[in-house]
Amino acid sequence: MIKSNYHKPDFFTDKAKKEGYAARSIYKLEEIDKKYQIIKPNAKILDLGAFPGSWSQYALKKVGKNGLVVGIDIQKITLDLGSNYVFFHQSILDPSLDFSSYAPFNAVISDMAPNTTGIKDQDVALSLELSLMAAEAAQKYMKKEGTFICKIFQGEGFDEFYSEIKQYFKKIKSFKPEAVRSQSKEIYLIGWELK
Ligand SMILES: C[S@@+](CC[C@H](N)C(=O)[O-])C[C@H]1O[C@@H](n2cnc3c(N)ncnc32)[C@H](O)[C@@H]1O
Repeated sequence: MIKSNYHKPDFFTDKAKKEGYAARSIYKLEEIDKKYQIIKPNAKILDLGAFPGSWSQYALKKVGKNGLVVGIDIQKITLDLGSNYVFFHQSILDPSLDFSSYAPFNAVISDMAPNTTGIKDQDVALSLELSLMAAEAAQKYMKKEGTFICKIFQGEGFDEFYSEIKQYFKKIKSFKPEAVRSQSKEIYLIGWELK
């Protein structure tokens, strides 16, 4: 039987360990940010799907001591990320979730992904629902001139989502960072300036 290499440690996993980041996902955000300069000093960032914390770690480094990062996840972050970090241990779908007192944000970044059920249509639908919630959060809580980053899985519903969020932002682009595993269907959409 041929075993999948998917869960084997790889270059980015080793690098994350060595550099003290909570996950290899850091390098996806780093590459996007290096290319498009999204996370700036003193900024306020909303990080959706923040667990285990590598995007928040990166964002905190970039915003510096006068910035703020607000993280949200259904899984609890146990890292101590310091006093410029606020964490909500809640679902983005929870109607009682209220982080509005920290808004408006300079950037809303979402790496949310559902726990997959193995039922393909259901997984794609769940992922799309999370991406739509992220886009809605950007519309409500981001500065007009802010930037949105969102993970999305290419598959059924992707084109509709792309068309939908095109209406929210002045410019959008899709980008697949090097750190995304080659067999993965994930891609990142970046949206600039709310319409
Ligand atoms: C790929 S991980 C994020 C990794 C993170 N960006 C990092 O660098 O450490 C996706 C996350 O989305 C979270 N998630 C899934 N459904 C969610 C929901 N309804 N609300 C908030 N977070 C959710 C999962 O718990 C998981 O931690």
